[in-house]
Amino acid sequence: MIEVKNLGKTFKKKVAVEDVNMYLEEGESVGLLGPNGAGKSTTISMISTLLPPTKGTVKFNGKDVFKHPKELRPVLGVVPQEIALYEELSAYENMKFFGKVYGLTGKELEDKIQETLELVGLKERQKDAVDTYSGGMKRRINIAVALMHDPKILIMDEPTVGIDPQSRNYILDMVRKLNREKGLTILYTSHYMEEVEKLCDRVYIMDHGQIIASGTKEELKSILSNEETVTIQVEELKKEFSDLLSSQQRINRMMEGENEYNLIVSKGEQLLGEIFDYARQTQVKIIGIHVQTPTLEDVFLHLTGRKLRD
Ligand SMILES: Nc1ncnc2c1ncn2[C@@H]1O[C@H](COP(=O)(O)OP(=O)(O)OP(=O)(O)O)[C@@H](O)[C@H]1O
Ligand SMILES: [Mg+2]
Repeated sequence: MIEVKNLGKTFKKKVAVEDVNMYLEEGESVGLLGPNGAGKSTTISMISTLLPPTKGTVKFNGKDVFKHPKELRPVLGVVPQEIALYEELSAYENMKFFGKVYGLTGKELEDKIQETLELVGLKERQKDAVDTYSGGMKRRINIAVALMHDPKILIMDEPTVGIDPQSRNYILDMVRKLNREKGLTILYTSHYMEEVEKLCDRVYIMDHGQIIASGTKEELKSILSNEETVTIQVEELKKEFSDLLSSQQRINRMMEGENEYNLIVSKGEQLLGEIFDYARQTQVKIIGIHVQTPTLEDVFLHLTGRKLRD
């Protein structure tokens, strides 16, 4: 449905997107995962024809979207990272404004407003000014606006950042329903692994303007199928302890978090004895140790040596 080839964007001298290849099949829910500054928003802006690329192509049903923007735009809904609403107007008035921009009028417009408000669960609050809404409610209206013209493809740029857990769950459930029940094709950008694990069939992992891994969740995790993650929670981090862990050859990778160490080790390696020895030698107080099979977060750690969230 959508095919992206060798896409790149350079702002003056800053390379935001270096070389991105990806595709979207009809009805799929695809995740684009990457840390801050990876180039996710820039990639999305190019796919949605809002930003011309420096190089490469985006095709929709085989046609270049920049040469034929009228093909993609009517079937595409974009939820931008920044909330784009008129704060002093009510939700209803915002929807009416954007609905008209999409060419809806009269009864069709009214029906569509009520239908989408219902979908995002804000029908009761529609008369209130947007600036009286919580961050999560604004997000939901932002999504409603993107859905008004019945798009077939929905691109969402980090729609759950900085909002309350209730709104977040609401949005996640809604996106899942739109995909599973209404057959919308979804491209979902996030730096929350759990969200992508929950929502998406296929995942692209992006870092420094490039796709560094892609595949189904299962395929990505199989990169680490012979490894497991050991998380050591400590009272406080200590250099002597980290040094001992780093010197241990059987630890494939190590990351320090806030009061914890994350180790990736080969499956079946018995390291707990050593870990406790090191802790005793360096007088580090261990609060807990957990061994887990890898998550997508671990795949990212493995590929980049960093965690997704800063
Ligand atoms: N208009 C611009 N001019 C110059 N540099 C830009 C511009 N837009 C983005 N960049 C740079 O390009 C890089 C990628 O930015 P982008 O916003 O695409 O990342 P992102 O993955 O969406 O990050 P975040 O998770 O923080 O939203 C960053 O280093 C950013 O500073
Ligand atoms: Mg972004």
